Amino acid sequence: MNKIVFATNNANKLREAAEILAPLGIEVISQREAGADCDPEENGATFAENAMIKVKAVYDIVKIPVFADDSGLCVNALDGRPGVYSARYAPKGQECAKLLEEMKDIPDNNRAASFQCVIAYMDEKGIFTVNGGCIGKIGYEEKGTNGFGYDPVFVVGDKTMAEMTAEEKNALSHRGAALRALYEMLAKG
Ligand code: IMP
Repeated sequence: MNKIVFATNNANKLREAAEILAPLGIEVISQREAGADCDPEENGATFAENAMIKVKAVYDIVKIPVFADDSGLCVNALDGRPGVYSARYAPKGQECAKLLEEMKDIPDNNRAASFQCVIAYMDEKGIFTVNGGCIGKIGYEEKGTNGFGYDPVFVVGDKTMAEMTAEEKNALSHRGAALRALYEMLAKG
């Protein structure tokens, strides 16, 4: 099985990546397991810039294949916010409540949103990026206890992402799509 380091300290992201890539023959290990105890400043203006910052910082230390993701929620009625600032929009655990408050007067026909994910991959040959997206809408209350971040308010079909099983979320999520695109690129050689 090929081993790739995931440049993240987020246990939820790590679990999702391992669930998606293990059946494809790729073992994902955390940056900490690989000996890279760093947390570079994500000061890029785009998801791609931030993913590149993270992948380069960890690759410089471990010198084996690494990928990093940068992801976030883009809400149409908020002109794409919180976007690249999704992790800093509110203190951890309060992001859904803050978003629901900000959206309280937004009507049903203007609640569309998307999760975006850019993965940067780096090995001795160089660096590339792949993308994934997932379209949904912002609900009116928090529902479900699975997942993390904005999952309890992000509705796809008749469920929030926090009401989905891991398999259901991975099959339609932005990170699932980007990880499958990464696999396709690696499989091409
Ligand atoms: P970063 O990619 O580590 O900079 O963080 C992105 C932020 O976007 C996370 O802290 C979450 O708040 C949010 N986010 C990214 N992906 C997801 C997801 O799959 N579900 C819910 N929230 C997410």
